[in-house]
Amino acid sequence: MLATVRLLMLAAGCAGHAAPTEEPAAADLGAESKACVECHTAAKVGTAAIEEWKKSTHAAKGVGCYECHKAEKTDKDAMDHNGFTIAVIVSPNDCARCHEKESKEFQASHHAKAGEILGSLDNVLGEIIEGPQAAINGCKQCHGSQVLVQEDGSLDPTTWPNTGIGRLNPDGSRGSCSACHSRHLFSAAVARHPDNCGKCHLGPDHPQKEIYEESKHGIAFAANEDKMNLDGKSWVVGVDYSAAPTCATCHMSATPTQGVTHDPGERISWTLRPVVSKKLENWEQKRNNMKDVCGNCHAAPFVDAFYTQFDGAVTLYNEKFGKPAKEIMGKLREAGKITPDPFDDKIEWTFFYLWHHEGRRARHGAAMMGPDYTQWHGFFEVADRFYNEFVPEAEELLPGVTDEVMKQDLHRWKQGLSKEERERIRKFYEERYGKEGEAN
Ligand code: HEC
Ligand code: HEC
Ligand code: HEC
Ligand code: HEC
Ligand code: HEC
Ligand code: HEC
Ligand code: HEC
Ligand code: HEC
Repeated sequence: MLATVRLLMLAAGCAGHAAPTEEPAAADLGAESKACVECHTAAKVGTAAIEEWKKSTHAAKGVGCYECHKAEKTDKDAMDHNGFTIAVIVSPNDCARCHEKESKEFQASHHAKAGEILGSLDNVLGEIIEGPQAAINGCKQCHGSQVLVQEDGSLDPTTWPNTGIGRLNPDGSRGSCSACHSRHLFSAAVARHPDNCGKCHLGPDHPQKEIYEESKHGIAFAANEDKMNLDGKSWVVGVDYSAAPTCATCHMSATPTQGVTHDPGERISWTLRPVVSKKLENWEQKRNNMKDVCGNCHAAPFVDAFYTQFDGAVTLYNEKFGKPAKEIMGKLREAGKITPDPFDDKIEWTFFYLWHHEGRRARHGAAMMGPDYTQWHGFFEVADRFYNEFVPEAEELLPGVTDEVMKQDLHRWKQGLSKEERERIRKFYEERYGKEGEAN
């Protein structure tokens, strides 16, 4: 079938982002892929996975098993497989044969670098304090493993299965497209759904999923999921859907004036991860990219005002808690009161909770309109940790070390509230609950 062959060549050879312009009903497969499907079906190897592939856009466009899994004999992870040379891993470089733009953007992103965590404090926790098997089943399933190939060409089972977002692949490429595009349907709808990001973006140190769910945006999504057109070929906010934004809407997807990006860093202005938050390079441009998304559902003054509130929260965290705590830790280390090694002194755990869990929750809550995370899981816990654990522990190690910090205006309440403030509180409770209801 000549037409089929031409289509397949178009699909297999399609340069860059360009997809075949012709719309075939259902393309037949190349001889190689046909053989894969036939034998796998007969041998009952992953029959449900094959069913999923059959429903995929790929199958409809003649992109079969071989088009993705084919390998060169010289590839590190190439294996002889029933007369074919294939690799189990389909890396971003393999997808790039047809999706160059997505692959380039993705590989330039922080996502693709998420496997480089060996030097981090978290890594000491995972690999050493907890143990390597914890890291294999935990950290690396989100961040990515270094996939190793064994003598016989098979994949080292301690390093794969793994679809961590920054996986280090045998061919030298970084990341895993199936971190978001689950096989073998590879549907955009799955990737657009907030649950997809929620495999990794949740939990005590980065609860973006939970924050989103409690926000007005998440509520609107949950109530209107059937109106979100998640399966649409085109998915432009304000054009193809309007009920709610998902994670993808704000961080990756198209607007009438902005294309899809596979680098979510292009729209964020702060980094909310470290002890002290910093504005990123070209942060104004990145913020404007995000504002362009918001602008499809909100008016500009509303969006600007949101950023005023968000910046305020980040600056408060930085100035009142992040910077002072960091400075005090520096003084303790200088004075030899804590060792240069991480996590062997109790206060290092206290400090870690303060910025890595609670401080991030406060900042992430403010970034994505989740007031409970900003307050009760965030700033409240930050304040409790700082005043009731961190400062007393530091004072015990080196008396006077917190004096300078505690003299600052921001912390003056510790020396007692003014008489007027105390009176106001007393009256508030008395008026609401009568004399017995007084708070203190
Ligand atoms: C041989 C070429 C080829 C390879 C290799 C390939 N794709 Fe595709 N892909 C296509 C074509 C063609 C389309 C359909 C494009 C269209 O309809 O505009 C497509 C569509 C997609 C879509 C959109 C699906 C939808 O239903 O909207 C996703 C997501 C995708 N590919 C991801 C991947 C990933 C991830 C890889 C690697 C694991 C990959 N592709 C490898 C050719 C390929
Ligand atoms: C003659 C039968 C046959 C053909 C043809 C065949 N396969 Fe397989 N394949 C199998 C069987 C059986 C297994 C399960 C292997 C096992 O259990 O050890 C398998 C396993 C695999 C695996 C997993 C291997 C691993 O180590 O995890 C991949 C990937 C794969 N096949 C892809 C392909 C592709 C792509 C093609 C076509 C180019 C293909 N197969 C053609 C029979 C076949
Ligand atoms: C769009 C590209 C693409 C197509 C088409 C494709 N695969 Fe895969 N396949 C992948 C990716 C990506 C993985 C995940 C491997 C990894 O970790 O990178 C995978 C993994 C696998 C695995 C091993 C994992 C497991 O769950 O057992 C098998 C077996 C497999 N594919 C068989 C097939 C067969 C058979 C077909 C054809 C019916 C097929 N694939 C079509 C991209 C593709
Ligand atoms: C559930 C998935 C998941 C697990 C498990 C996980 N992380 Fe993370 N990690 C993330 C996400 C998501 C981020 C980004 C958080 C953000 O931007 O708010 C992150 C951030 C980080 C960072 C900060 C990177 C930077 O650029 O500042 C490091 C370092 C890190 N993780 C290391 C680890 C280590 C080591 C482990 C195991 C002890 C681990 N993570 C476990 C998902 C995970
Ligand atoms: C962080 C999650 C994530 C990762 C990782 C990811 N994608 Fe996507 N991808 C998405 C989302 C979300 C969409 C849907 C964008 C839209 O249409 O709104 C998408 C859409 C696509 C599409 C359809 C075209 C389009 O722009 O809508 C292709 C093709 C694609 N991705 C390929 C890839 C390839 C290749 C990789 C790996 C190099 C990859 N993706 C990695 C989230 C991801
Ligand atoms: C498989 C795990 C995983 C999935 C799925 C995932 N992420 Fe991430 N994401 C991470 C990790 C890990 C980091 C931190 C990377 C680092 O700094 O090393 C991160 C970082 C980010 C960042 C910060 C980027 C930057 O430049 O600093 C954003 C924004 C983000 N992810 C959004 C998303 C969205 C939106 C989705 C879903 C469409 C998603 N992620 C899916 C693991 C994941
Ligand atoms: C309404 C738009 C919107 C939605 C929906 C949304 N975000 Fe965000 N996100 C933001 C904004 C705004 C920021 C802060 C941007 C900045 O720094 O300028 C942010 C920040 C982030 C960061 C960066 C944190 C860091 O450490 O620097 C990550 C990661 C992230 N979001 C992931 C997600 C995930 C995952 C979801 C879905 C569960 C999601 N976002 C939903 C708007 C959104
Ligand atoms: C697809 C439409 C859509 C997009 C895009 C969108 N929002 Fe919203 N937003 C909504 C809806 C709907 C509500 C709920 C309105 C209400 O309370 O009646 C909302 C509410 C809000 C609220 C009020 C929260 C509350 O609890 O009262 C803020 C603040 C907000 N959005 C900011 C943003 C920002 C900032 C962006 C971009 C980063 C953005 N939104 C993107 C639809 C959207």
